[in-house]
Amino acid sequence: MKNEIVKLLKRESKLSDETIKEIEETNIQDFANLIKEIGKEKREHIKASEISKDLNTNYIGKNLYIYHEVNSTNTVAKFLSQTGVENGSIVISEKQTGARGRSGKSWESPLGGVWLSIILRPDVDHSKIPLITLATGVAVAKTLERIGIKNSEIKWPNDIMINDKKVCGILTEAVTNFNTIETVIIGVGIDANLNIEDFPEELQAGTTTLENELGRKGDENLLIKIFLEEFEKISELFNHEGYEEILKEWRKRSYTIGKIVEVRKPFNKYYDAYVLGISREGALVVEKIDGTLEKVISGECIIKN
Ligand code: BTN
Repeated sequence: MKNEIVKLLKRESKLSDETIKEIEETNIQDFANLIKEIGKEKREHIKASEISKDLNTNYIGKNLYIYHEVNSTNTVAKFLSQTGVENGSIVISEKQTGARGRSGKSWESPLGGVWLSIILRPDVDHSKIPLITLATGVAVAKTLERIGIKNSEIKWPNDIMINDKKVCGILTEAVTNFNTIETVIIGVGIDANLNIEDFPEELQAGTTTLENELGRKGDENLLIKIFLEEFEKISELFNHEGYEEILKEWRKRSYTIGKIVEVRKPFNKYYDAYVLGISREGALVVEKIDGTLEKVISGECIIKN
């Protein structure tokens, strides 16, 4: 069973019927321990002991599943979420071989970045998912503020920008069962200890890294610890319906409000618009050229000025 699971974590292979039966018959705790044990193999930078040292949270990051290399921490987190791991468990990998970005894009994840996924079981309906993504963006921005980067901004919905360049992306995926959200997987990718040359040429002009901004390498374990603390604070606000406060924090750091953008909605619907703000549900509120207002709940927006 172990070998097949290792394969599954590294590539998106399928489990054999025999292994699925074995998993079903395994005690959930033993299974979680097996997955943790697989993570212990050969790691270079990320250390559970460093992250957990003085970690000031109640449930976020109390269970850490750390790997050297997986295909995508979101995929592993989805898999683990179905084996009953606790709310707030975190999957981290030093590298990803098949990481996913938004809109079906791939995501570069070399050694040196922070690639993690949060397994969250919020007690909310579908309509609140966009707010979780916005809240995560605020948590990342606050994390960067705590390590000395005071000028990060959030580009709707989920890109963290420094000096007009992207330093972090967030991919939120819901695991549903008969239309009820069971778990939300929040994938966060921070370009931490990386050089611009570590990225493919076509991404270099629009990308920055923490190392590039700070002029030195930082401590990835400390960065993760701070992020987990900031994430728990904002997720507590979310659990207590502090949506307005989350939006206020988001608006303060907005890169998008007040700009002319090209809105790119699914099915190739593109148009130019002026961004008025974000709504209470986390949608972008834009004014189109003909003066009509529209709420954009999903899609991309390309800044034009
Ligand atoms: C984006 O397109 O901006 C979102 C990028 C999200 C990347 C992170 S890295 C950790 C997690 N695992 C993935 O496969 N994707 C997310």
